[in-house]
Amino acid sequence: MTSDEIKELLTKAYTDELETVMNYMTNAIVLDGVHAEEVKESLDVDVEEELEHARILGNRLKQLDESPPGSEAFEARQANLQPPEDTTDVQSVIDGVLEAEEDAIETYRSLIEAAEEANDPVTEDVAVTILADEEAHRTEFRGFRKEFPQE
Ligand SMILES: [Fe+2]
Ligand SMILES: [Fe+2]
Repeated sequence: MTSDEIKELLTKAYTDELETVMNYMTNAIVLDGVHAEEVKESLDVDVEEELEHARILGNRLKQLDESPPGSEAFEARQANLQPPEDTTDVQSVIDGVLEAEEDAIETYRSLIEAAEEANDPVTEDVAVTILADEEAHRTEFRGFRKEFPQE
C-alpha cells in the first residue's frame, strides 16, 4: 500500500515546508521600502499555509507509522532565500520564493506519481491538495516579479 519512496518524499516535503516557514517569516520581517509592503503581507499569509502543509504531511507520516523528523536531521537547502544584505532588495526575495515554490511543485508531483504507483490514494490526495496551494503561491509571486522587472 505504501512505499519507502513515499515516506522519503513525505519527510523531505515536511522539512522543506518548515525551512520555507523560517525563510518566509524572516524575509517578511526584514524587507524595507515602499515596494516591500505587498510582498511582506503575502509572505506572512503564506507562512501560515506552509506551516499547515507541514502539519498535514507530519500527520500523514504518523498514519504510515513513521515519525516526522526533528531538527537534528535537518539540512538547510534554501541558499537563495536567505535575508538579503540590502533589505530593499525585494527582487532577490521574489526570485528565491519562486525557486522554492518550483522546488515544492516538483516534490509534490513526484509524490503524486509515487502514490499512484503504490496505490495509496490518501497520500495522493494530500499531495494534490498541497500542490494546488503551491501553484497559487507561484502565480502570486510571478505577478510580483512582473512589477519588479529585471533589467
Ligand atoms: Fe507548502
Ligand atoms: Fe508555497
